[in-house]
Amino acid sequence: MVERNMLYDNHGRVINYLRLAVTDRCNLRCFYCMPENGIQYVEKSALLSYEEMIRLITVLAKLGIEKIRITGGEPFVRKGMMKFLATICQIPGIRAVHLTTNGTVTAPLIPDLKKIGIKSVNLSIDSLDQQRFFEITRRDVLPAVMETFHALLKHNITTKINSVVMNGKNTDDIIPMVQLTKDYPVGVRFIEEMPFNGSGADHGLSLWNHHKILEKIKTVYPDLEKIPDPDFSTSTNYKIPGHSGTVGIIAAYSRTFCGTCNRIRLTPTGLLKTCLYDSGVFNVKDFLRAGASDDEIRALFLNALGHRAKDGFEAEKNRRGGQFVSESMATIGG
Ligand code: GTP
Ligand code: 5AD
Ligand code: SF4
Repeated sequence: MVERNMLYDNHGRVINYLRLAVTDRCNLRCFYCMPENGIQYVEKSALLSYEEMIRLITVLAKLGIEKIRITGGEPFVRKGMMKFLATICQIPGIRAVHLTTNGTVTAPLIPDLKKIGIKSVNLSIDSLDQQRFFEITRRDVLPAVMETFHALLKHNITTKINSVVMNGKNTDDIIPMVQLTKDYPVGVRFIEEMPFNGSGADHGLSLWNHHKILEKIKTVYPDLEKIPDPDFSTSTNYKIPGHSGTVGIIAAYSRTFCGTCNRIRLTPTGLLKTCLYDSGVFNVKDFLRAGASDDEIRALFLNALGHRAKDGFEAEKNRRGGQFVSESMATIGG
């Protein structure tokens, strides 16, 4: 048995969830995440190695982290991912490993994901219309993503769909996406667009906030029912009577859920973020490569959690040099 601690931040929030971005590379170019010609990827030597990530997870599990979500970029463009996932599923204290993927190359891997015990998969689908999907992601790969969707359901892996709502791009897709919940037992979640797009451009970010998304759904589904939200949920959740799945709205830009935020993030290069909107607290890779002991690593994390912003607005205000949010989500992991 692992010695289990409960980890708290300076606002009394329990911290038990690590979001680990394993690569900044991605085979899509989603409009809300990257410019069309991509971003400058980091050198392989600047990435945390698998060994470094395994060591960090082992240290953090002893501190109180029990849930891990693997994100990217796209996790499966990094070689050796399945072996890494199998290893971290076995680390004492880690109760659940989840994945967020774009689904483009994931379908053939689903039986193995099931076998190693991945708890759930969040799949990004911003449109069910092939042409619109192409316009948003700049790649014509909706059929491969839908294959992943069906393979996840076939293998009984809990699945949520993430759909970023973009003014002038896919708001006509909201209702078709909600309709997916009729026959499929999935959580379809609409996400407010955030400025993590590689340039900081504002495409009308505030226009489609959580209120407006909800209103739109209610025009077609006035009998939408509120259902209880799981602990620490980022989404506010609903159900349409008679549907198999659920509908959620993530107020990622309005930041309504900071009061129960249980997450820390490590970027692909090892930067610790105690809030999605901060500019990073310290780079753990520098300490690992300088020979830090497990105790020293532990102390660094504990110190960072003792100085955490109370919410995403405070974190944004305190960014280094007053810099605006403009980095690509691929460099953070979402
Ligand atoms: P679970 O709750 O574990 O299912 O994951 P999640 O919904 O937090 O993770 P996912 O990777 O599917 O992210 C969905 C959306 O929520 C993405 O756009 C994330 O950037 C956003 N999100 C996740 N965590 C936070 C957070 O702490 N703050 C904000 N503002 N947005 C977040
Ligand atoms: N705004 C909101 N959500 C975003 N994601 C990526 N970039 C953004 C953005 N600028 C979402 C993706 C993915 C999740 C991890 O983050 O849809 O599902
Ligand atoms: Fe947590 Fe920051 Fe997101 Fe709020 S905005 S939920 S504090 S990561």
